[in-house]
Amino acid sequence: MNIAIIGADGQLGSDITAALRKSGIGVTELLRDKVEISDRYSVNSIINKELNIELVINTAAFHHVEKSELDPVTSFNVNGAGAANIAYACRALDIPLMHISTDYVFDGRGKKPYTESDLPNPVNVYGNSKLTGEYLIRSITDKSYILRLSGIYGRNICIEKGYNFVDKILKIGEEKGEVKVVDDEVLTPTFTEDIAEQILLMITKKAEYGIYHVSAEGGCSWYEFTKEIFNIKDNGVKVNKALPGEFSGGVQRPAYSVLENKHLKDLGLNIMPHWKDGLKRYIRSYR
Ligand SMILES: NC(=O)c1ccc[n+]([C@@H]2O[C@H](COP(=O)([O-])OP(=O)(O)OC[C@H]3O[C@@H](n4cnc5c(N)ncnc54)[C@H](OP(=O)(O)O)[C@@H]3O)[C@@H](O)[C@H]2O)c1
Repeated sequence: MNIAIIGADGQLGSDITAALRKSGIGVTELLRDKVEISDRYSVNSIINKELNIELVINTAAFHHVEKSELDPVTSFNVNGAGAANIAYACRALDIPLMHISTDYVFDGRGKKPYTESDLPNPVNVYGNSKLTGEYLIRSITDKSYILRLSGIYGRNICIEKGYNFVDKILKIGEEKGEVKVVDDEVLTPTFTEDIAEQILLMITKKAEYGIYHVSAEGGCSWYEFTKEIFNIKDNGVKVNKALPGEFSGGVQRPAYSVLENKHLKDLGLNIMPHWKDGLKRYIRSYR
């Protein structure tokens, strides 16, 4: 089996690449020097019969939330039209597309974990552009997997942002001895190696097409997450609560975006661990 991964050198893409290769699946890495997803000609020139692939996984996105708000055109070109370009190319080859989406498709007014059948209602440009990508893919091909993730961190830093939250807060804590973090945004931070293993299982078990929530179990605020980071490190860093919205960059975000992996659970395929478990493995292995 040979699978093409767009964004294979990214935070998530690199872990998916590693997990698939380790299990003996061939991976064709489609990096930015080979493909620009917002350009239909670029996509069609690379995703064609010569590539000899059975599935495309798209991890590429314009996902810096503040930059998206300032540049909606690029956001929709990449996250909306870009997703559509890949879907058209996959449809022409009659192969499926696995596309990475986000918890930011929800407005965050919910009080319990969102399932795949809850109605999206994004509150910012990034969320709207990602939801547009989902809708376009589903209108172009019926052979798609749309995977919504929440607050990801991994061994390789997020290229778009230049850091991941865990490493950034560890660095500040080690430099200053204390940190300040918001307590008014609840989500499920998820280790990318766990997502990669879940994706591998979905592929090997030939999961049905559709929308999937793929996040760790449980939920926490950024403040609670940070408390747990320094609890594991046990280095005496003090964690303070920031004022609501203090680090929002002026952009509205969902206050509650915990995802329930209902589709995976219904199929008996959910292997996502609790967020505390993923965090412990991440810090012990890499930090
Ligand atoms: N970060 C989060 O907390 C979070 C939460 C939920 C969902 N997600 C979703 O998770 C996915 C992966 O995120 P990540 O953190 O792994 O991202 P990342 O580290 O920034 O990697 C993205 C990869 O995509 C490539 N790329 C970006 N724009 C492209 C374009 N227009 N054409 C072709 N390639 C392009 C990048 O190439 P370059 O090296 O050239 O930039 C990079 O290889 C995204 O779809 C994001 O929306 C992220």
